[in-house]
Amino acid sequence: MKKEFISSVLPNAVVDSLFVVDEVTLRNSSNKKSYISCTVSDRTGRLPCKIWGDAGMSESDIEGYYNALSQSQGSIFRIAGRAALYKGELGINVNDGIVYLSKPADSSKLPDSDFINSPVDIAACKKQILALIDSIGDEGLRTLVSSAVTKADGFFEKPAAKGRHHGYFGGLCEHSLEVAKTALSIEESLSGVRLRRDLLIAGALLHDIGKCQSFEKKGLSYVPLPEYSLLGHTATAMMYLSHYRAFTDAETFRELLHIVQSHHGEHGETMPQTAEAWAVHLADNISAKIHEVDEDLKSVNPGESVWGRKSDSFVYKSASCDDTGGERGAGDNGGGNFVSGKGSGSEKKSQRSITDCFK
Ligand SMILES: [Fe+2]
Ligand SMILES: [Fe+2]
Repeated sequence: MKKEFISSVLPNAVVDSLFVVDEVTLRNSSNKKSYISCTVSDRTGRLPCKIWGDAGMSESDIEGYYNALSQSQGSIFRIAGRAALYKGELGINVNDGIVYLSKPADSSKLPDSDFINSPVDIAACKKQILALIDSIGDEGLRTLVSSAVTKADGFFEKPAAKGRHHGYFGGLCEHSLEVAKTALSIEESLSGVRLRRDLLIAGALLHDIGKCQSFEKKGLSYVPLPEYSLLGHTATAMMYLSHYRAFTDAETFRELLHIVQSHHGEHGETMPQTAEAWAVHLADNISAKIHEVDEDLKSVNPGESVWGRKSDSFVYKSASCDDTGGERGAGDNGGGNFVSGKGSGSEKKSQRSITDCFK
């Protein structure tokens, strides 16, 4: 039975447990010494990990371990090192524990569900997304969104990102649902403004559909494909959605593509020009930013203000905050009751739906 989980790792604690390893890169420190940077994860979360090796190791020794790790991304390794805070972010440093990294550990007696990083109740998310699609009044647009979502490779399992927000199994569908619900709440909250609900739902659910072409499954993890950085997910979304042109009229299709193309606002190539495109852009920022702040706050003590690396801003944890921490429960996937209500699955249900991804 796996005893030590990411959620229980504290600064300065000795760590010796099995974790999934991915995002493996070979880097140079400020004194020009090679080290391996990677991410380690289990069902409770992810942490950055730096593998320095012990003092007597040569550059080629480190490269050898790098080659072994990078060829087995998504596999389970024994990580033996010490946790530390670096610029406000918790991580693990490995020195002589590098000797355990020449090959994956034997995890045959442990369930995959202990290692698959996902706080998402994927079944509940999927149910709400399908209900939202069903509520689209325009038949052509409804069929387009339904086909695009259900035929995309891994829409309900892939992460929305690797580093910043929703970077876990089911992150893409959770984020897409949050953006749709937030965009609809903008529509409901504003007086004297009419947003086209069908277009809002379609654009929100499809705005990051290009992420499906950005990740591939490796072992118990998803790793970025070259498309992730070479093309970006807006370009891959445009290519993917072009197959669905015939489902609706030219004007509706153009406006749908505009929402997708402009959803990064000032950070993208095209600024939003319709009310629906602005609503999706702002809802996207809300979903991403609040999750980033929430992630940053996990390693902050009550009453402390630190620079948050994910949110790229200062974050403060209230002095009166209950800092008991713990895992996010199944069904705690954003709440709201726009269609079919908040997910209410048990942890068993969540883990079952996640491990189903591997069948
Ligand atoms: Fe995006
Ligand atoms: Fe997004």
